Amino acid sequence: MAENASNTLTIRDNRTGKEYEVDVLEGDTIRAMDLRQIKVRDEDFGMMSFDPAYTNTASTSSTVTFIDGGKGILRYRGYPIEQLAERSNFLEVAYLILKGELPTGDELDEFVHHVTYHTYVHENVVHLFDSFRYDAHAMGMMISAVSALSTFYPEAKDVRDPSNRWIQMVRLVAKMPTLAAFAYRHHRGLPKVYPENELSYTANFLNMLFRIGVKEYRPNPVLERALDVLFILHADHEQNCSATTMRVIGSAEADPYCSLAGAMGALYGPLHGGANEAVLRMLHRIGDVKNVPAFIEGVKNREERLMGFGHRVYKAYDPRASIIKRTADEVFEVTGRNPLLDIALELEKIALNEDFFVSRNLYPNVDFYSGLIYQALGFPVEMFPVLFAIPRTVGWLAQWEEMLEDKEQKIARPRQVYVGEDARDFVSVEDRG
Ligand code: CMC
Repeated sequence: MAENASNTLTIRDNRTGKEYEVDVLEGDTIRAMDLRQIKVRDEDFGMMSFDPAYTNTASTSSTVTFIDGGKGILRYRGYPIEQLAERSNFLEVAYLILKGELPTGDELDEFVHHVTYHTYVHENVVHLFDSFRYDAHAMGMMISAVSALSTFYPEAKDVRDPSNRWIQMVRLVAKMPTLAAFAYRHHRGLPKVYPENELSYTANFLNMLFRIGVKEYRPNPVLERALDVLFILHADHEQNCSATTMRVIGSAEADPYCSLAGAMGALYGPLHGGANEAVLRMLHRIGDVKNVPAFIEGVKNREERLMGFGHRVYKAYDPRASIIKRTADEVFEVTGRNPLLDIALELEKIALNEDFFVSRNLYPNVDFYSGLIYQALGFPVEMFPVLFAIPRTVGWLAQWEEMLEDKEQKIARPRQVYVGEDARDFVSVEDRG
């Protein structure tokens, strides 16, 4: 920076010739409210920034997750995702994300104990699943079940009490796998399997899902660890569509169950967490490696979208995709190779050499390979967004907590630019042409 340069921005309004000096803040930002002073006439509302889909708007400052999309960097609370995936486990990472620091041994034991002992849900919640059709989508059932929890914990409304918030956060982290397993068992017409406290977070989940006709089910440790790694990779991703939904609903001081159900609704969309399901359906549709070039042509002609490619923030290889690719190899050694992997690899190979994708910085994202692992682990595609929602619960809760503690935040309420009709008089129905 040049000497004497001040950390301000001068804006010249060519309509009036007036100049305004506004502060440049952390992260090369200016306050949108600083634009409000820019007016042509005194009675004007003042200038706003126009940013559909918030592509260039920082809605908050945050200490949870750092992403450098250009360099392919992802860190939770400062720790690189590669180190966490290699050396940590999901509940330790959950504590880190929720509390801001890695736990001591005692803190971790206590947290694991609390999460383990809150895995049960009220029996009426168990029965709730029976009211869905046999073919109900698991994510729809999950969203309903999470919002139903709000009625079982009315005290959760007291969102300004940190200790009360913590209890609800532990409950949600603990109960998500139980609800997910119950949704799956309903879909399959199988009796529910209740949580077993001596199992790890992921082993307990796999047990509730897949135990049939035996007293004891113990998952293969490689698969248990693979799911744990996938959970670590999905735990948070800063201000994405669903985290923003969580913050927006939470900003009205709705309880965390209702806020989280809303975030799950956002995640369910095929452009967000529904993408891993869409990838699998796409791979099935392509069907054979020999059909890949024709499919890529379809994408280039805009008849198709290459699901699992591209990202609003990453303009390089998604670091999570590289870890997932390695995890896939470990899983396939146990389960056998998923035949769809060859189609995925061919898609990636061709796409990374095609100008259409290279020039638009379209690389595989987290969802490109995760579905293949989920399928190898025995999950039907309807469960894929649910498998995203379980770990992301941690990120949503951390974002929610941060929003509530942030003195700068208040109820979210964007502005609009009205481009509709001017005032006009009502015409009764018999007089309308
Ligand atoms: N296939 C084909 N073209 C694409 C794709 C794709 N997957 N993604 C982006 N493009 C094109 C897009 O048409 C546009 O082209 P042009 O400039 O010629 O009009 C250009 O690339 C820039 O894309 P964009 O639409 O401005 O990018 P975006 O930031 O609005 O969208 C995205 C990001 C993730 C919604 C998009 O890349 C997409 O739809 N990907 C497929 C769905 C997917 O895999 N979603 C999972 C995201 S990662 C998990 C998560 O965070 O939830």
